[in-house]
Amino acid sequence: MDWGMKNRLSKIINPKDGHTVMLAVDHGYFMGPTTGLENLSEMIKPLLPYADVLMPTRGGLRNYVSPEIDIPICLRVSGGTSILNKDNLLHEGIIVSMEDAIRLNVSAVAFSILVGQPFERDTILSFTKIIDEANRYGIPVLAVTAVGRGLGKDAKYLSLASRMAAELGASIVKTYYCKDFDKVVETCPVPIVIAGGKKIPEREALQMAYNALQDGAIGVDMGRNIFQSSNPVGMIKAANAIVHKNATPDEAFEIFKNNK
Ligand code: R5P
Repeated sequence: MDWGMKNRLSKIINPKDGHTVMLAVDHGYFMGPTTGLENLSEMIKPLLPYADVLMPTRGGLRNYVSPEIDIPICLRVSGGTSILNKDNLLHEGIIVSMEDAIRLNVSAVAFSILVGQPFERDTILSFTKIIDEANRYGIPVLAVTAVGRGLGKDAKYLSLASRMAAELGASIVKTYYCKDFDKVVETCPVPIVIAGGKKIPEREALQMAYNALQDGAIGVDMGRNIFQSSNPVGMIKAANAIVHKNATPDEAFEIFKNNK
């Protein structure tokens, strides 16, 4: 692996503990002004000190984020559908050129594949094209294993999607937590982070993050469970404590509650 790729990965994954807290704010690329991100600038300002990485879209970065921030960027580079297009949702392709990603000085790019849907081939071939281009410049690719309607978030499916992503060349995989998640981690040769998914009660989300770390995930790439929380700063601090300070879910929940 080239020095540049290693250097970028060291910004995404903290070399001190091999863990990471990624703040996902890329939802606008298919959800528009989703709750909590109506003013993305204001939302992320108090959260950034507790995140290792920010995951925006290019428009989110250019329109809402100061170029003076000191946080590595993992740029969303796949898209092409909206939440209104239920039948074709997440039938994604390349939406950012590698030239523009480099212009934005990103440390990684993120691309969603959707295994199991009729259009899986489209997403996979675009994904590998991005990998070839990104690797040419030493930029790691985070694979997002989207889960289409009717496909269960179970270990069998998520192991398949995560292992495929790794075999196709991803440097990191973002998937979802599930029962027997340790099996997903064991069969994936690259680091795994978990997405938070739809908003759930904070204590449950913290338990999920804790369980994922116990099962071998290196961290979280959470969005809605942070920026739709009643206390986003408390929530990202709590998630950070679980990921980087070995906090238990109860200890983390106290951090969440005490940061009103
Ligand atoms: C979908 O918007 C993106 O893939 C998000 O980056 C990912 O789902 C993580 O965000 P959340 O924790 O809200 O699911």
